[in-house]
Amino acid sequence: MAVSTRKLSIVGAGAVGTAAAQWAVSRNAADEIVLIDVIEGVPQGKALDLSQAAPLCGFTGVVSGTNDYSDTRDSDVVIITAGLARKPGMSRDDLLAKNVEIVKSVTENICRYSPGAVIVVVTNPIDAMVYTVFKVSGFPKNRVVGMAGVLDSARYRTFLAQALGVAPRDVTALVMGIHGDNMLPLTRLASVGGVPVEELLSGDELERIVTRTQQGGGEIVKHLKTGSAFSTPGLAAVEMAQSILDDQKRLLPCAAYLEGEFGIEGVFLGVPVILGRKGVEKILEFPLTSHEKDALALSVEAVKKQMAATGL
Ligand code: 2OP
Repeated sequence: MAVSTRKLSIVGAGAVGTAAAQWAVSRNAADEIVLIDVIEGVPQGKALDLSQAAPLCGFTGVVSGTNDYSDTRDSDVVIITAGLARKPGMSRDDLLAKNVEIVKSVTENICRYSPGAVIVVVTNPIDAMVYTVFKVSGFPKNRVVGMAGVLDSARYRTFLAQALGVAPRDVTALVMGIHGDNMLPLTRLASVGGVPVEELLSGDELERIVTRTQQGGGEIVKHLKTGSAFSTPGLAAVEMAQSILDDQKRLLPCAAYLEGEFGIEGVFLGVPVILGRKGVEKILEFPLTSHEKDALALSVEAVKKQMAATGL
């Protein structure tokens, strides 16, 4: 009987791609992990370093680095992190023009060697880059998905846990919409151990946490000065990849292509989705309040502007 292996390729051996590879190795997330970058030697060196973590972390697969897309052949999941990262004073939108070109060429290569893959897009601005991958690949909508909601919700959960003095993993919370200042951290649905946070924190406290979540990426850029967050973005992408590779059916907030869900048509936007072997297997739709609908409309407007700027 053929043994099925799980192959994960990570495009871009920069900070986020390297973090994703490291988390994937430490979590034994795939049997074969390929790190690919245009810079010669960097993915090879990083992969060799990571391969030597196997005795310490229990990784049982193979991790390799390459500059050649043929080595990514038949990947089950491809995480795209390639592109420029934000510097202080730069918005995610400033990156758009440069990263569209990079992501287009990456997508063409993925399609050539892994026509059956599910693509997880991390390159910023994510909501426009995931649309770029969708258009260029011609893949069905279930096999193209953007990371961001997992990261933004993790930030939201962390800040809520700190305010409540509880274990972060006991906080459940959802961030919908764009990966940008108009994202929508839902307070109504956030809870700790099933208790609504609106019963435990004041309106002012919640508002401060919502704002901090919306500006969570920028807060880190201000500290780092020469780049943006990488550890948790890498982990968020691996969390999604694992749900797909192992058909875990996790319910995760991701940028999925909407065709009428939540009354929204023809854009990628952060919504709760079930991720399994087929990629986005279902979008979980639920009624929004009029305030939430208005907030989400701001995201749609911002994403549409980004989509127009891709020229696709
Ligand atoms: C962030 O929010 C990199 O956009 C990413 O940190």
